[in-house]
Amino acid sequence: MMPKPFHLGWFTNFTQGDWTNPVSQGTGNWDGKFFVEMAQAMERACFDYIMLEDTLMVSEAYGGTSEATLKHALQVPKHDPIPLAAMIAAATSKLGVVATMSTMAWPPFMLARVASTLDHIAGGRFGWNIVTSGEDIAAQNFGMDKLPPRETRYAMADEYVDLVCKLVDRWEPVAVV
Ligand SMILES: Cc1cc2nc3c(=O)[nH]c(=O)nc-3n(C[C@H](O)[C@H](O)[C@H](O)COP(=O)(O)O)c2cc1C
Repeated sequence: MMPKPFHLGWFTNFTQGDWTNPVSQGTGNWDGKFFVEMAQAMERACFDYIMLEDTLMVSEAYGGTSEATLKHALQVPKHDPIPLAAMIAAATSKLGVVATMSTMAWPPFMLARVASTLDHIAGGRFGWNIVTSGEDIAAQNFGMDKLPPRETRYAMADEYVDLVCKLVDRWEPVAVV
């Protein structure tokens, strides 16, 4: 019987190394090279994609303050996933490269442009992890007091994704002669 094919992905983020973890890079240079080597190893191991998580705040989800987040360095500090996605895309040839961008934070035009640029660097392997952001503290980094309520956020995201698709498709394939 033929074995059933399955998909493999790995979810990570551009944080500092976890020094207690034997596979991490420790707390050395925070330059992304660890993740590039990791992506290359994943490609050799036939993974489908690497996915770069992102959030835009020091979380207050636990206990309503940032105390635990900071004390235990829970996903902070965290670099931006987009330059790392470009590094990984340029250093691999088959692996899918998925990065997170929030509909709350990016103007749609900018997102469509950066996604299209990354997709060219990646030769068609780029994916967008669509999120709407999950804490008011993130909205406060963008001049708002609170996130819109969940229903509104998702209605906005629907419209946003439609718009981004239209922008990405705006150039005809034969536009560049
Ligand atoms: C595979 C996966 C990846 C996710 N990545 C992120 C992320 O990078 N950043 C983020 O803020 N939320 C992330 N989330 C959380 C979602 O944005 C969302 O808040 C969560 O799935 C709860 O769903 P709901 O918003 O429909 O209640 C992720 C969820 C899943 C299932």
